[in-house]
Amino acid sequence: MILAKAFVALLAASTGARMMRKDEVRERQMEALKKWRRGPGPAVLHESTKRSEVQNITFSNPKASEFWVDGSALPLVDFDVGPSWAGLLPISNNPNEMRQLFFWFFPPGPEGSLDDLIFWTNCGPGCSSLKGLLQENGRSTIKPLSWSYGQAKPTVNENSWTNLSSVLWVEQPVGTGFSQGTPNIENEDQLSEQLLWLTGESYAGFHVPYIANYIYENPTLLDLSLQGILIIDPLISSWVVQEEIPAVNFVHKYEGLFSFNQTFLKYLNEKAARCNYTDYVSTYLTYPPKGLLPLPGGFSDITADCDVWEDIFNAALIINPAFNMYRIWDTYPILWDILGFPGSFPQEQSPIYFNRKEVKEAIHAPVDTEWSECSVANVFPDGDNSLPPAFTVLPNVIEKSVRSVIVHGMADFVLIAEGTRIIIQNMTWNGLQGFQTPILDDSFIVDDVGAFGTMHSERGLTYYEVVLSGHMVPQFSPVAAFQIMQHLMGFRDTP
Ligand SMILES: *[C@@H]1O[C@H](CO)[C@@H](O)[C@H](O)[C@H]1NC(C)=O
Ligand SMILES: *[C@@H]1O[C@H](CO)[C@@H](O)[C@H](O)[C@H]1NC(C)=O
Ligand SMILES: *[C@@H]1O[C@H](CO)[C@@H](O)[C@H](O)[C@H]1NC(C)=O
Ligand SMILES: *[C@@H]1O[C@H](CO)[C@@H](O)[C@H](O)[C@H]1NC(C)=O
Ligand SMILES: *[C@@H]1O[C@H](CO)[C@@H](O)[C@H](O)[C@H]1NC(C)=O
Repeated sequence: MILAKAFVALLAASTGARMMRKDEVRERQMEALKKWRRGPGPAVLHESTKRSEVQNITFSNPKASEFWVDGSALPLVDFDVGPSWAGLLPISNNPNEMRQLFFWFFPPGPEGSLDDLIFWTNCGPGCSSLKGLLQENGRSTIKPLSWSYGQAKPTVNENSWTNLSSVLWVEQPVGTGFSQGTPNIENEDQLSEQLLWLTGESYAGFHVPYIANYIYENPTLLDLSLQGILIIDPLISSWVVQEEIPAVNFVHKYEGLFSFNQTFLKYLNEKAARCNYTDYVSTYLTYPPKGLLPLPGGFSDITADCDVWEDIFNAALIINPAFNMYRIWDTYPILWDILGFPGSFPQEQSPIYFNRKEVKEAIHAPVDTEWSECSVANVFPDGDNSLPPAFTVLPNVIEKSVRSVIVHGMADFVLIAEGTRIIIQNMTWNGLQGFQTPILDDSFIVDDVGAFGTMHSERGLTYYEVVLSGHMVPQFSPVAAFQIMQHLMGFRDTP
């Protein structure tokens, strides 16, 4: 009896203590969110150039008007996104040129710089940069637009990179095509003499350094002055380094999340040991490096008997068929996505936005072309013939650039951050190999919020690891990505 009473009292006390009304919960969330809200004025070094309206860009070439997009009439968007220009342009001046690239150009928002131009390209090969525009860094001028996973309708994106400067999204494949033809923007005199920042994600780890290198080595080609590059969760070396060596470490780091059974963990550990992955990081990933870093087994291609990544992916799918290699903690339900690609697997959940006839017409896209976010089914391309940029052009690009940035989301299992650390420590630029001093914990500070990962800067290269972010850092951590872009462009004093 007494016990029961005590129990009832305890229950009352504990439920009482835990009672939180929904509006109180909401209040706490709003309080936390305040720190993530940015005031206007992203371009801190551009205070004097502050304007209150969208910048009106004019083009000396009268043909530009054919590409103008009416920002007040984008289908399904119930606000005015401001002026922009989009369409197809041939990749060369050859009158018989059949190859055309689709571009979408936005001028800067009120506080953005008119002296700069950001070029963005997405992953792939075969994935569209319009994904970046609609779901990552994008969108517009008056009211930047964002339509990410699970959103019933587009919302204003406060962290659009158009707050920094003009942005040009180009649908790839650009790669070699872009390099051999003069980029299409040569027709837009307005853009000449601007400072160019090349940025991209994933497979763009190949494109961006090669394009940058081509521009640096052919300086008369462009009326733009290339300043630097930013590559996000980039493929820049071999799959063995970017997936296999760090894969089992990654599982241990997120062991509770993967929730593998003990038998499988034991199997993974034994395989990693046999393949010489287990002690790799503790032995070779030192600051400064002790010499060139070896490739376990001396091979750079994935072999079946050491493919721990594949084992992990398959096992993760068994207990979580919604497993998203681009952001490992996703579970069911798979979110609705207006672009039809909300995770590891394409989904047929909606009429795809860029596949709607009226959308294609609004942005001067070819109406009879079937658009899909990734046209190539193989997420793991065999690579092109170029050697990985870390072994070839990347050091030269870093040396020629004012600043170069590599960013990695920590929840990305497609390309794993620790592999990027290995690549950096094995790379020689500006006279030395790798970083000379260690990457410190909590060294990336997001303004007003606090530690949000790590950051390290030496000899013109800054490397960021962003916590709580999957593969697409501007989509999953837009405030962090925006701050990183400010650093790249010299709009802030600290990284
Ligand atoms: C971007 O500009 C808009 C409009 O001026 C402003 O409301 C927003 O806070 C800016 N965002 C950032 C990240 O500075
Ligand atoms: C921008 O400039 C163009 C051409 O100079 C002009 O036709 C248009 O009305 C201007 N738009 C705004 C919003 O000022
Ligand atoms: C490190 O660089 C050397 C020389 O380019 C190369 O032979 C080796 O395979 C690289 N190691 C890794 C882990 O990529
Ligand atoms: C692992 O390292 C040992 C000792 O250096 C070597 O004999 C063996 O071939 C390596 N195994 C693999 C799969 O790389
Ligand atoms: C443990 O995990 C492995 C890999 O997913 C699976 O094949 C095996 O059936 C699992 N064992 C049990 C008891 O669930």
